[in-house]
Amino acid sequence: MSDGLPYEVRRVQGEAEMAAALTLRHDVFCVEQGVPMREEIDGRDGEGVHLVAVSNGGLLATCRLLFVGPTVQFSRLAVRESARRQGIASALLHLADAETRAGGARRLVLHAQTYARDLYEAAGYEPRGRIFMEAGIEHIAMEKRLS
Ligand SMILES: CC(C)(COP(=O)(O)OP(=O)(O)OC[C@H]1O[C@@H](n2cnc3c(N)ncnc32)[C@H](O)[C@@H]1OP(=O)(O)O)[C@@H](O)C(=O)NCCC(=O)NCCS
Repeated sequence: MSDGLPYEVRRVQGEAEMAAALTLRHDVFCVEQGVPMREEIDGRDGEGVHLVAVSNGGLLATCRLLFVGPTVQFSRLAVRESARRQGIASALLHLADAETRAGGARRLVLHAQTYARDLYEAAGYEPRGRIFMEAGIEHIAMEKRLS
């Protein structure tokens, strides 16, 4: 545990935890938000760095980082509904910065659902371009450069 918080954020560990992360993504994106499964599972999980938040062995949240040259594509950020508004997504975004630096990249890009834009702006991301539709949901591209 870190900073006295009742959860830990770190890289995913082992196959069972990765399976739990994929189940959470399915529940949040496909069941809750109606994203088609073929878009949620895009064939790139094998090349990604997966981060999780865990509490007492239970998986609370996950996200994925794809390293593409000097840039990290951040995606698949999902927090269990009962665990939201406790700073868990913000903690994963903070860890994503550290992972990006450690991996030798200095820039993160993502497609934010517009309702969650404040989350990313608070973490230092800036909007780029116009609002567009992806998987039937309003998005905006955002990016962060690490100093
Ligand atoms: C969006 C999501 C990842 C946020 O996770 P979270 O752990 O609740 O976020 P945090 O507690 O770190 O929130 C930090 C800040 O982000 C903003 N924020 C978070 N959820 C928000 C929401 N539903 N609506 C508006 N602003 C929100 C707020 O400014 C919040 O600060 P506050 O709680 O002091 O007001 C979570 O709601 C989720 O999994 N949603 C479904 C999947 C999804 O939309 N993923 C993001 C795809 S871009």
